[in-house]
Amino acid sequence: MKGRLDKVLATCTLISRTDAQAALKAGRVTVDGTAVRDGKIKVDSDAQTILLDGKPVEGDGFVYLMLYKPVGVLSATEDKKGATTAMDLLPEEYRKAAPGVVGRLDKDAEGLLLLTSNGELNHRLTSPKRHADKLYRVTLDIPATAEDVQAFREPMDLGDFITQPAGLELLEDGRVCMVTLREGKFHQIKRMFAHQGKTVQTLKRLAIGPLKLDETLSEGQWRSLEKAEIQELLTIADMM
Ligand code: URA
Repeated sequence: MKGRLDKVLATCTLISRTDAQAALKAGRVTVDGTAVRDGKIKVDSDAQTILLDGKPVEGDGFVYLMLYKPVGVLSATEDKKGATTAMDLLPEEYRKAAPGVVGRLDKDAEGLLLLTSNGELNHRLTSPKRHADKLYRVTLDIPATAEDVQAFREPMDLGDFITQPAGLELLEDGRVCMVTLREGKFHQIKRMFAHQGKTVQTLKRLAIGPLKLDETLSEGQWRSLEKAEIQELLTIADMM
């Protein structure tokens, strides 16, 4: 990000302008190894090394987060009836940046939720034209079969829409499966299995395109995306 040092500092680290000024004044900010106290100087966080308390100040000014959504939490950013939403699990400074959810997950599903304030990326990743593959681990009441694998591969008429080819891989005895979806219609996996006479018991999203759920996160925990993860997402969205 390019601009005045105080603005770059506040935008990239989500601290207030006042706190950014205080950090500068206290000599806690360095640019290419030199302490800088003047917030008005112009900087470029891609070309220069800017550190606050020794930690890199970088980014494009947008927020990119992954959250391990637990069962029971809504993937919406707000709920009029007061149910817990993904946003409630984030600290205030991230809520203020107003990230949107990229591709919803049912309330009774768990796993990877991507949140970003980069609206263009959100739009592109969810656009039917570009469809990033989503990977889910599913458990069923009745084991899936080779017939189901074939049925998932072919267009399936679900009444209000016809599915695009989906991947189905059987694990264990078929009661556990991995499903890969290119699209993300409402309750799609549950409806595809219901079409095959089976009921989904648990559903967990493991990946959205190149972004994998961090296995070190516990349910309800979140972290900022790493630079390489952001770049991979921007690349598949044709924004690099
Ligand atoms: N398919 C579903 O049925 N539910 C989800 O949350 C995601 C995919």
